[in-house]
Amino acid sequence: MNGKNSGIVIFGGTGDLAYRKLMPALYNLFGTSKLGNDKIIAIGRREYTQEEYHHIIHEWIKQYSRIKYDEKTFLEFSNKVFYYKMNFTELDEYEALAKYFKQKEITNPIFYYAVAPEYFEVITDGVMSIQECCHGRIIIEKPFGDSLEQANQLSEKLEKSFGKENIYRIDHYLGKEMIRNIETIRFDNPIFANNWNYEGIENVQIQALEEVGVETRGNYYDHAGALKDMVQNHLMQILTLVAMEKPTADISISDRQVEVLKSLRSVGSLVIEDSLVLGQYEGYKNELNVASDSNTETYAALKLFIDNRRWKEVPFYIKTGKKTGSREMNVIITFKKVNPDVQANVLTIKIQPLEGISLKFNMKEPGDSEKVIQTEMDFCQSCIARNRINTPEAYERLLLQCMQGDQSWFSEWGQIYLSWKYIDELKEEYKKQELPIYEYEQNSTGPREVDQILNDESHVWAQSQ
Ligand code: BG6
Repeated sequence: MNGKNSGIVIFGGTGDLAYRKLMPALYNLFGTSKLGNDKIIAIGRREYTQEEYHHIIHEWIKQYSRIKYDEKTFLEFSNKVFYYKMNFTELDEYEALAKYFKQKEITNPIFYYAVAPEYFEVITDGVMSIQECCHGRIIIEKPFGDSLEQANQLSEKLEKSFGKENIYRIDHYLGKEMIRNIETIRFDNPIFANNWNYEGIENVQIQALEEVGVETRGNYYDHAGALKDMVQNHLMQILTLVAMEKPTADISISDRQVEVLKSLRSVGSLVIEDSLVLGQYEGYKNELNVASDSNTETYAALKLFIDNRRWKEVPFYIKTGKKTGSREMNVIITFKKVNPDVQANVLTIKIQPLEGISLKFNMKEPGDSEKVIQTEMDFCQSCIARNRINTPEAYERLLLQCMQGDQSWFSEWGQIYLSWKYIDELKEEYKKQELPIYEYEQNSTGPREVDQILNDESHVWAQSQ
C-alpha cells in the first residue's frame, strides 16, 4: 500500500511492459489485498474508452496473472484502473494531468516510466512542472539511456529533480525468488559460508538460456544485443550477489555489489578471445525490425575474474542466449575436489523455470563396494510452492517494495554505471580486435566456440538440470 492519496501512474500504459508485467502484477497485489486504495492511472496516446482499456488488460491479466483469475476480482480491480489519454511529450498537457490527479484525489503517486529512454527527459520535465500538486516516486528500468553518457546525464537530472531517495531503478531479476535467496544460502549456512572463496570454490557459472528469440522487439534488441540486454544488468546483478561480502546495517547490498564491480579484472588485462565469445542465431537477420546485415549478438559467453582477497583466480563464467531450445537459468558453484580421484561437490541454485537448489556430493557405493560415487540432493521449492504458497512474481514484489518506500532491492546509479562501463569496454575491445560473431543453429545450445573460454579441461559447462 502506497499510503494516503496515492496512485500508480504508468507512462506507457498501452505498451508491452504494462500489459504483460505491470497490470498482472498489480492485479496480483490487489487480489492478495496489498494494493489498498491505490488507483492506477494508465497513460497512453491512443483513443480508448475506460471499457475498451479494461477489455484489453482483462485478456493480458487472464493470461499472465499469478493468482487465480476470477471475473469478480477483475471487476473490482478494474474499478481502480483509469485510462488517461495524453501526449506525454507535450509539456502543456501536464497541467490537465495535474487537474485529473486532483479530481481523483491523488497527491503522491508513483510514476512508472514504462517507455523508451528517449522519453525519460521530457516526462521528467512534465512531472516537475506539476510537482506542486503531486510529488512522488519514480520507477525506471533499463535501458536507462541510449549511451552511457546520456544515461549518466539523465540519472543526474532525475536525482536532482526528485531526490535520490525517490528514484527506484528496477531490475526484475532482483525480484525473483531464488535470486533473493542467494544471500541466505551463502551467509546463513556455515557449510557454504566457510568455503565461499578461492580456497573452496573451483569456478562459478551463471547460465541464462532462453527459448524465445527477439520476437517483436527487434528495434530495441538490435541496438542492445545480449551483452546489454542480459549481462550488463540481470547477470551482473547475480554475479555480484554471489561474489559480494556480507551486507551490514551500514553497508547496503548495492554498496557491496559496487565493491565487486570495482574489483573486476580490468578489460585491458584480459585476453579478449579467451574471455568473450559472441554468437548470433541463424535467421536472426530476417527478424522483424532487425538490420539485414546485423552484427548484433544474441548469445554471449564470458569469463570474468574478481581480483580481491576472496576470489583470486576463480573464474566466473557467464553464458546467455536466445533460441537455445529451452528456458533455463541456474547458478552453478563447483567446489574444489579433495583429491583428483573423486568428483567435485556442485551446488546448483535453480532460478527458473523451476525454483530450487541441488547439491552433488560423494558417497560410498551401497553394498560391499568401496567405490566412491556422486549422488545428489535436490530440493524443488516451486514444486512444493505450486501447491501451497505460490511465490510472488518479480514485478509484484518490487512494486510492493516501492509502494512501501523500501529501496533495498533497487540499484543505485553508481552500480549500473560501473557494470555498463565494463560491458561497453569489453564489447568495444571485441569489436576492435575484429573477433567473429559465431552463427549458431536455432534450438541448439549455442556456438561451439563457447568452450574456448573455459580455463582448462577440468572446467566444463554445467548441463541442464
Ligand atoms: C528482459 C530482456 O530484461 O529479460 C529480455 O530484455 C529477456 O530480452 C528477459 O527475455 C528475460 O526475463 P525472464 O524474467 O523471462 O528471465
